[in-house]
Amino acid sequence: MKNSHRIVGLIGVVVLAVVATWASVQIDWFPELISPIDGKIDSVYTALLISSVPFFVIIVAAIAFMLVEFRATGDDDERDGEPMHGSTKLEIVWTVIPTLIVIGLGIYSWVVLDEIEAKQPNELKIGVVGQQFAWTFNYENSGKEKIRSSELVVPKDRPLFFSITSLDVIHSFWVPNARVKRDATKGVVTPLRFTPTKLGRYPIVCTELCGIGHATMRQTLNVVEPEKFKKWVANGGKFTAAKPGKAGKADGAAIFASAGCASCHTLKAANAAGTLGPTLDTVGGQSSAELLESIVKPNAKIVSGFNPIMPANFGQTLSKDDLDALVEYLQQVGK
Ligand code: CUA
Repeated sequence: MKNSHRIVGLIGVVVLAVVATWASVQIDWFPELISPIDGKIDSVYTALLISSVPFFVIIVAAIAFMLVEFRATGDDDERDGEPMHGSTKLEIVWTVIPTLIVIGLGIYSWVVLDEIEAKQPNELKIGVVGQQFAWTFNYENSGKEKIRSSELVVPKDRPLFFSITSLDVIHSFWVPNARVKRDATKGVVTPLRFTPTKLGRYPIVCTELCGIGHATMRQTLNVVEPEKFKKWVANGGKFTAAKPGKAGKADGAAIFASAGCASCHTLKAANAAGTLGPTLDTVGGQSSAELLESIVKPNAKIVSGFNPIMPANFGQTLSKDDLDALVEYLQQVGK
C-alpha cells in the first residue's frame, strides 16, 4: 500500500473516531432523571464514553487494516515476518496514556460517589427488605406501629436514606431513574441515598439473579407531594382512610399486597397475575387451617407442577392477626 493511501486511511480513522464519539454522547442511554445527583452520574458515563469510544474505533480499525494489509497471498506463502525489536518509546507512550486516563476517571468517579453517599439533612429513613421474590418497604411511624408497604411511597424533595437487607439470598435494589443500585444481603444492612425531585411512578428492579422468580421481582417507586405522603403515613400506609368499622382489624387485601404474594400467585381480586405459584382464585373452599399451613409451612404440601420455592418465613414476618386476616381474605375472594 502506498504511503499516501495510508495517510488517507489514517485521517479516515481519526474522523470516524471523532464522529463515533460524538454520536455516542448524543444517544440518550438512560431513563428520565428524577434526582439531582443523577446528572452527575450520567456525566461520569459521558466521560467514560469519551475516553473509550475513540480507542475502540482506532484499535478495531488497526486490526482490520492489518488483516487486509498483511494477509498471506496463497497456500505457498510461508514467509516469516520481518524481524523486529521492541520500541521503548512506544511502550512508554501506550502505558502512560491509559494509566493517566484510568487514574483521572477513578478520581472523578470517587468525587461523584462521595457526593452520592453524603449524609443529607432531614433524611426519611426507610427499611428495604428483599426476599424471594418481592421487596418490602418499612417506615418508622413515630411511636405507632411500623408501616409495611409493597409500594415505595416517598415525598418529593425529601432526602431518602435506605437501609437495605435480605431475608434469604442476595438481591439487588435498583431504581434506574435515580441511577442508584445496591445489593441486599442477608445479615448485612447496607445504606443508600437519593432525593427524588420529580413526582410520578418509577420502576424498582431486582438486579441480582436471585432464583426462578427474579424477573418478576419488580415494584414501584411512587413519588408524591409531601402533603399526600403525610396523609399516607397517617392512614397507616394507605392513600384513603380505612373505612369506619374496620378500624383495628388487619386488612387482608393490604397484607396480600405488602407481603409480595402477587409476584408469584394469581388472584383476580387483587389484580395479581403471578404464575410461579399455584393460583389462589380457587382456594376459597379450603379450611382456615389448610390455608394457614400453606402460608407458614409452604413446603408441607406442594401442588404438582410447582417448585418448592415459597419463602418459609411468613410465620415470622407476619403477625398472627395479619395471618388470620390474610386467610380470611383468601377464603372470601378465592372462589
Ligand atoms: Cu431478587 Cu433478583
